[in-house]
Amino acid sequence: MTKSIHDDIERILVSESEIQEICKKLGKAITADYKTKEPIILLGLLKGCVPFMGDIIKHLNIPLEMEFMDVESYKGGVSSTGDIKIRMDINTPIKGRNILICEDIIDTGKTLDTVIKLLLHRGAKNVEVVTLLDKPAARVIPLKPKYIGITIPKEFVVGYGMDYKEYYRNLPYVGILKNNVIDKE
Ligand code: PRP
Repeated sequence: MTKSIHDDIERILVSESEIQEICKKLGKAITADYKTKEPIILLGLLKGCVPFMGDIIKHLNIPLEMEFMDVESYKGGVSSTGDIKIRMDINTPIKGRNILICEDIIDTGKTLDTVIKLLLHRGAKNVEVVTLLDKPAARVIPLKPKYIGITIPKEFVVGYGMDYKEYYRNLPYVGILKNNVIDKE
């Protein structure tokens, strides 16, 4: 890794200004859909959600509570409500609540599938998803989020919350790493 994290980026896939436009557009749509409903819980899935959630909330003109979960899905293809490791759980009762999950990216769909099942199992009234990036070509479990910022091809991306070995989350854009930065495993 070089001293400037920008030097490790081969190309930018979604720029800072594009991300801001997406946040505005999604914020408007979500505000319109939820303004006549009961207050929502905006549920961020850590850690990748942090920059996106921080930006999109500025465009949500509705009453909302912010909550977070840190979960690890078992990648073995099991997707029942019991097959999820919760590193940090949501901190408020969710029975009868409208929940909007905030994600940076949907890849295989396994994480969201298990979280949605868990929330419904606990009595949430309604669960929808807003994601900045959608990578449908990588989907293993069929899952269509209601609010999608932008659809991207099946490439490994970093920045704006997304990491490689925990680094690069603080890039203000979404980009693709140079080949020589990635360890050959
Ligand atoms: C990433 C991302 C999603 C999930 C998507 O999180 O934030 O939660 O993977 O992948 P999936 O659709 O294949 O389940 P990750 O588990 O890497 O944790 P992080 O947000 O802390 O980086």
